[in-house]
Amino acid sequence: MKRILVTGVSSGIGLDLCKGLVASGYEVLGTVRNPKVGEELKASLGENFSYLILDMEKRETLDAIKTKIKDIFSEKPLFALVNNAGLAVSGPMELLPIEEIKKQFEVNVFGLLELTQMCIPFLKKMDQLKPRIVNISSVSGLITNAFMGPYSASKYAVEAMSDALRRELFLRNIEVIIIEPGPIQTPIWEKARHDKFDWSDTVYDVFLKNRAKIIDNTEKSAIPVAEVTKAIIDELGRQKPRTRRIVAAKSWVYPLLRILPDRWVDGIMIKMNGLRKI
Ligand SMILES: NC(=O)c1ccc[n+]([C@@H]2O[C@H](COP(=O)([O-])OP(=O)(O)OC[C@H]3O[C@@H](n4cnc5c(N)ncnc54)[C@H](OP(=O)(O)O)[C@@H]3O)[C@@H](O)[C@H]2O)c1
Repeated sequence: MKRILVTGVSSGIGLDLCKGLVASGYEVLGTVRNPKVGEELKASLGENFSYLILDMEKRETLDAIKTKIKDIFSEKPLFALVNNAGLAVSGPMELLPIEEIKKQFEVNVFGLLELTQMCIPFLKKMDQLKPRIVNISSVSGLITNAFMGPYSASKYAVEAMSDALRRELFLRNIEVIIIEPGPIQTPIWEKARHDKFDWSDTVYDVFLKNRAKIIDNTEKSAIPVAEVTKAIIDELGRQKPRTRRIVAAKSWVYPLLRILPDRWVDGIMIKMNGLRKI
């Protein structure tokens, strides 16, 4: 039975993937921040699921997981690491406190890379089976919308790190796959509705209020999380996996936006966000 480590399995894509992997005959080790959630998952998924505590913002949990990974995977190596845990910081780049941007990178970028570095020695032991690293990026790692600067920047970093890793790890026969979801039905949208900052008294206020409507519309167009699970399980099973895969309703839109002139895309985004000079 092949072993897979998945980060952030308490909800959304990670949770659905965990269920899908166990049902497909994999042994899953999931990371959670809350042990209660881990115990509940263990009770519902059975003996092929176990969990580790990991909070990318807490140094002590990263240090602890390093020791645990060594113990666990020295016995039986790892076939795949799915870097899924993530959060989305949004707001105007001009005003967001730098600590918020650091938090965004701590979780989506530095935590992801540090865990990957910890796992590579154990992935490489399975080199005859082409072990793999699956990084959950986003279409926001391909194009950047207004007020999504921190999140997009973190996903662009995930894209770049994944490309570099793939071009280095071919030496070890380790595959690196980038999954680029568009809007997916997960709790991330509900979290996006709660802005912890008050932007009133700023030029951005009226447009950020408008974002609630934009989030509603985007969420309405979101596709079921099962589509992402299906794509990941497919890539885990392929002899020659794809290097990147967009999972979205209109997947053709994103590559197109990347080749259009910047000013055209600015116009589309400005219109979409209802922005106008005041
Ligand atoms: N949903 C979409 O439309 C969409 C689109 C493109 C890409 N994605 C990407 O898909 C991945 C999963 O997102 P989702 O939509 O499934 O969102 P979600 O339901 O909010 O799940 C996020 C997961 O990440 C974990 N997490 C958050 N902060 C963490 C931290 N500091 N340390 C460790 N784990 C942490 C969460 O744990 P807690 O429950 O403890 O907070 C949760 O398990 C993310 O990388 C996201 O950027 C999502």
